[in-house]
Amino acid sequence: MGTVPETLRWIGDEAGHCELIEQTLLPSRLEYLSVEDLETMRDAILRLAVRGAPAIGIAAAYGIVLGLRGLADTAFRDDIDRAFAHARERLASARPTAVNLFAALDRMEERLHRDGDGSPRDVRRSLLQEALAIHEEDRAMCDALGREGAALVEDGDRLLTHCNAGALATGGRGTALAVMYTAHEQGKTISVWVDETRPLLQGARLTAWELGRAGVPATLICDGAAASLMAAGRVDRVFTGADRIARNGDAANKIGTYGVAALAKVHGIPFYVVAPSTTFDLSLASGDLIPIEERPSDEVTQILGRPAAPKGQAAYNPAFDVTPASLITGLVTEKGVVTPVTEEGILQLLSRE
Ligand code: MRU
Repeated sequence: MGTVPETLRWIGDEAGHCELIEQTLLPSRLEYLSVEDLETMRDAILRLAVRGAPAIGIAAAYGIVLGLRGLADTAFRDDIDRAFAHARERLASARPTAVNLFAALDRMEERLHRDGDGSPRDVRRSLLQEALAIHEEDRAMCDALGREGAALVEDGDRLLTHCNAGALATGGRGTALAVMYTAHEQGKTISVWVDETRPLLQGARLTAWELGRAGVPATLICDGAAASLMAAGRVDRVFTGADRIARNGDAANKIGTYGVAALAKVHGIPFYVVAPSTTFDLSLASGDLIPIEERPSDEVTQILGRPAAPKGQAAYNPAFDVTPASLITGLVTEKGVVTPVTEEGILQLLSRE
């Protein structure tokens, strides 16, 4: 099996910086962006240079450390709290849908409450430890997701995925794609239909690239091709990621996922959502409460920066949709699989140690 990319990493000690793959350049160029301050990190999240729910959370945690870098050694606790609150607000306002961002910021704030009375340098060191722990835990969760999900894959399966829920979207091997990597490593013969995922082509640019590097057989399709492939009996199972899952199991993911799930239901094909426990938002009773990011309309009227519609064409660009729990065969988490998807099942599984 080939290698999966390292999406982001911290370089050095608490005075160090973050490096992340500039994903807007893929698949043409693999380049790391050096992120040395809070605003560059916010911008990277906004521009989707770093994207995917778990990776956004990790990037935000590192962004907090960067946000406290400018504090003088003589700064008081009040100054530290102010700098933290500012960094938190800037990062939290970057993208609204992925709950991992807010979960990571909450964890960083808890750490500040615990260790915030030290010198600015000690506080930064402690916050970096927390960010590194968030990153490491995500890596381990990806491995566990791969194991849990691969048990659902049968030899010879033709799988389908939407958007990119791979290494590029996490601190490890991905969520939905970790399932494919693991099944492939286990010696199962699998192939993957990759939805191109308009408007920003995460499937074509990122998922096809990742699977290709790892040696997993993958075939790119237009988003509109999934229906006829399913009707022709050429899809055995669907695995996608999620950006936020409500208490009842409704799951927000990249725009178009809901359509894929509805099609899978019509054709009797199992549809699985693969996500770590950090993607669940138990404070929301159902998916209609999940905030859906609306992105600039030029992402729809252009393709890869070139006009694809008449000048001045109106366009609407919701970045995510919500798949109702009733369409989801199972939620694959690092703690096990919830199937059928019910609130009781989710609460029971997530309360497991
Ligand atoms: O807009 P993006 O590229 O951040 O959207 C990413 C997705 O929708 C992923 O499927 C989701 O974050 C899960 S990533 C493991």
